[in-house]
Amino acid sequence: MATDSIDVKNILGLKLPSDPRWVDLAGMELEDILTDHAYCEQKAATTCISLIQRYSDKEEMVAALSPIVTEEWGHFRIVLAELKKRKLQLGKQRKDEYVNKLLEFQKKDGSVEDRFLDRLLTMALIEARSCERFKRLSEGLNDAYMRNFYRKFMESEAGHYTLFINLSELYLPKEKVRKRWNEWLKYEKELMKTIEVRGDRIH
Ligand SMILES: [Fe+2]
Ligand SMILES: [Fe+2]
Repeated sequence: MATDSIDVKNILGLKLPSDPRWVDLAGMELEDILTDHAYCEQKAATTCISLIQRYSDKEEMVAALSPIVTEEWGHFRIVLAELKKRKLQLGKQRKDEYVNKLLEFQKKDGSVEDRFLDRLLTMALIEARSCERFKRLSEGLNDAYMRNFYRKFMESEAGHYTLFINLSELYLPKEKVRKRWNEWLKYEKELMKTIEVRGDRIH
């Protein structure tokens, strides 16, 4: 398994590692974390579907995202099955402060190209941070079964992060993608500092 080769800080480019207290809190609130996780997977699938609808003329992107929809929905079903196995409830979707704050950073009045890039980079960032969080869970939870459970998600999300960056570079100049990606990373670093550390949230 390639888990040890994934260096979250260097490969994913994130500028701030998660607060180490988070994984301990998450371990204590497994039902909530599974519920939140399920909805993260649902939103990933839904967002890929809307990208396909909005940019249906971008053939390579449509082809690349179609299987991701299936994969993310598969993740949702895995988490749902885990909840059921533990006789836990899916529960209600919570307000997603992290994602909402990221959406605020998207250029609302930019060119069509700028908005497209921001949509892809938002996804890349959510995948990167989710991957980092799953890595923490896969290393820090007391339960060996759950550590393994999260290791598999970590590997998938690392692949998705790369895909969204690659798609950005397929349609837009590399220089432009790099520049904007760095702006996103800086914004996310500051955002992570302001978000309360709580164990019932993936982000
Ligand atoms: Fe996923
Ligand atoms: Fe993903």
